[in-house]
This record gives sequence, structure tokens and C-alpha cells, in this order.
Amino acid sequence: MEFQSKLLALCSLHILCLLLFHLNKVSAKVPAIIVFGDSSVDAGNNNFIPTVARSNFQPYGRDFQGGKATGRFSNGRIPTDFIAESFGIKESVPAYLDPKYNISDFATGVSFASAATGYDNATSDVLSVIPLWKQLEYYKDYQKNLSSYLGEAKAKETISESVHLMSMGTNDFLENYYTMPGRASQYTPQQYQTFLAGIAENFIRNLYALGARKISLGGLPPMGCLPLERTTNFMGQNGCVANFNNIALELNDKLKNITTKLNQELPDMKLVFSNPYYIMLHIIKKPDPYGFESASVACCVTGMFEMGYACSRGSMFSCTDASKFVFWDFFHPTEKTNNIVAKYVVEHVLAQFLE
Ligand SMILES: *[C@@H]1O[C@H](CO)[C@@H](O)[C@H](O)[C@H]1NC(C)=O
Ligand SMILES: *[C@@H]1O[C@H](CO)[C@@H](O)[C@H](O)[C@H]1NC(C)=O
Ligand SMILES: *[C@@H]1O[C@H](CO)[C@@H](O)[C@H](O)[C@H]1NC(C)=O
Ligand SMILES: *[C@@H]1O[C@H](CO)[C@@H](O)[C@H](O)[C@H]1NC(C)=O
Repeated sequence: MEFQSKLLALCSLHILCLLLFHLNKVSAKVPAIIVFGDSSVDAGNNNFIPTVARSNFQPYGRDFQGGKATGRFSNGRIPTDFIAESFGIKESVPAYLDPKYNISDFATGVSFASAATGYDNATSDVLSVIPLWKQLEYYKDYQKNLSSYLGEAKAKETISESVHLMSMGTNDFLENYYTMPGRASQYTPQQYQTFLAGIAENFIRNLYALGARKISLGGLPPMGCLPLERTTNFMGQNGCVANFNNIALELNDKLKNITTKLNQELPDMKLVFSNPYYIMLHIIKKPDPYGFESASVACCVTGMFEMGYACSRGSMFSCTDASKFVFWDFFHPTEKTNNIVAKYVVEHVLAQFLE
């Protein structure tokens, strides 16, 4: 308290005041948040395509704007919603395919993401969801609409100032490489990482060619610690699966390398690597200080062991207070975890986009 009042006293006299003001209230240098990826950032696109990879039913969304199951894979908001909010843009980022929204909404934020997709086309094929190349096609259409809505010059400026977020890669391993025949017979895990990193690099080059300049390449979480993997880790006494965590770390290294390389190569490019790995692992290993009571089991228990992707429709077995749980279902964090991770990434990485 004393420190705060001293700061305030200083503030009236000092240039520090300006600094404090800027840190507290970041104003719109970033006009929009544009999102590509999987269920970690899908705001409901899969509701509008024929796939089973959906979450538009209760208890999903029970803490979202009074209890709306939007298709977000959580009890509430997802990281991109919190990122948009901390940039002072809006409270949530809508799904591109949702007819409730139009270009006036999308001009400040849009998600092209699709649950169960990955970098690899073969991953999006598993549950017939939107592949990454198709997300790029949607983005091109979006740019055309934005141009007719804002005018060409303003649309170009908006695109170059907007933050483009990419978040995927977990499904390429857990849903595809280690589950389906095919990729595992073609590639070693390390070769497959190189293959995926190549697709990520190519995708970023495409975004750049389309005018994007502020891009965040998201890393993989410690995917060996997802409740689905722990539940089936009989040999390891339900601990995290070290092999899956190592694969996430190795792919993250390759993705990080891409950011260094492309920043050197592409003029005016501001490409950052947003790494959720260590903050997530910290929460999972030491849940108490964050107010969590469980990091190993999910709030919403699924009856579908074989699918594991989503909790059951109207599940009566979900916990009463999701904020005590790190994970909402077998695969996805609760809103509270999403908030902590998003804040961390904004503070440590994305804040530079506001400079
Ligand atoms: C978008 O939808 C809102 C109502 O939901 C409407 O008022 C507005 O005119 C629409 N904008 C465009 C550009 O179609
Ligand atoms: C974008 O433009 C196309 C073609 O004019 C139109 O069909 C579509 O509804 C528009 N989408 C949005 C989100 O405004
Ligand atoms: C994925 O599929 C699209 C569309 O068929 C194709 O253009 C692209 O080259 C494929 N990507 C890879 C890495 O094979
Ligand atoms: C990252 O790049 C450096 C320098 O080019 C290289 O030596 C290193 O092996 C790369 N690491 C990975 C994981 O690709």
C-alpha cells in the first residue's frame, strides 16, 4: 500500500506517470487479432462443418457469457479471447464461419481455427476438419471483404498492424502420428518435426506475402501432461509421459529457429515465438499457488475413453467449480488456466507488438 501511494505521489510530478499510464491502458496500436490453428484457439468454426470434433453442447461454455456452448473447447474463454481483451480490442474473438457475425465484427478480430486440425493435411483428414491451407484461403477471402468494407488502403494498414496468431501441432502427434497408420511408417518423430516445421515456415511466408507483419508462432504445451495421456500412462503411475513432452520441446526448438531465420530474412517482419510450455508445466507441477486443486484429472469427465477428445454431452459428472482444475476435459485447459497462460504470453512476448 505504502509503495503504491508513493508511486502515485511521484506520478503527479514525474514522467513515470506516463509510463504507468501506458502500462495500464494500452491503446489500439493493434486493430485486430487474426487466428489460425486448432482447438486451443477455435471459437466455434467446427459447428459449421460436418465433423464430430465439436463442443457446441453443455457442459462446454457453462461459464461463457452466462452459459453459451459456442464451440470453444473449455468451460469459458480461450487464450485468444484474453489476448484480444488485454490489447484493449474486445472480450472475445468470433469464429469466421459463424453467420451471427459479419465483417464489421471481423474487422477487429477473427478466428479461422478448427479443432482437431494440425500443420499436416493428414491430421485434418482424421476427423474431417479445416486444414491449414483452407484456413489461408478463408483469410484471403477475408482480406477481400475487409478491403471493400474499409477501403483498400485502410485494409492494408489494418492487416499490417494486426497480430496474427498461430497455435497448433499437438494433434499432429497425438491424433495422427501416434494414432493413425501412415506418418509413423514414413518419418521418425524427428523427421516428422522437421516436416511440420517446414509447413509452419511456409505458412508464415504466405502470411507475409499477403501483408501480415506482426505474427506470433505458438509453441506446443507439455502434451505428455494432458489428462488423456496421464490416464493411459499405466507404466508411469499416471505421471506425465516424458516422450511426448520431449517431442513438444524438440518441435518448439525448431519453431523458435524459424522465427530467428525469418526475422533476418524478411524486411519489417516482426515474428515472435510464443511458448506456453514452461508456464503450463509450472502450473501442472505446482498447482497450489495458483489456487488449483487438481492438475492430473479433468473437471469434465468423459465416458468416451476411446475418443477422449471431448467430454460427453450434458455430462453429469463434471466438477462444480472449474476454477479449481487446470484441465477442463481430457485435452483442454479450463478458462482459468487459459487466462493465466494468455496473460503470461502477453506480458513476456506479445506486448512488444504494441510498441
Ligand atoms: C453487421 O451486422 C449488424 C447487426 O448484427 C448490422 O447492424 C450491420 O449493418 C452489419 N454490417 C455489415 C457490414 O453487414
Ligand atoms: C464476404 O464477401 C462475400 C462476397 O461478397 C460474401 O458472400 C460474404 O458473405 C462476405 N463475408 C463477410 C463476412 O462479410
Ligand atoms: C496440403 O493440401 C493442399 C491442398 O490439396 C496442397 O496444396 C498442399 O501442398 C498440401 N500440403 C502438403 C504439405 O502436402
Ligand atoms: C537452430 O539453428 C541453429 C543455427 O542455424 C542450428 O545450429 C541448430 O541445429 C538449429 N536447431 C534446431 C533444433 O533445428
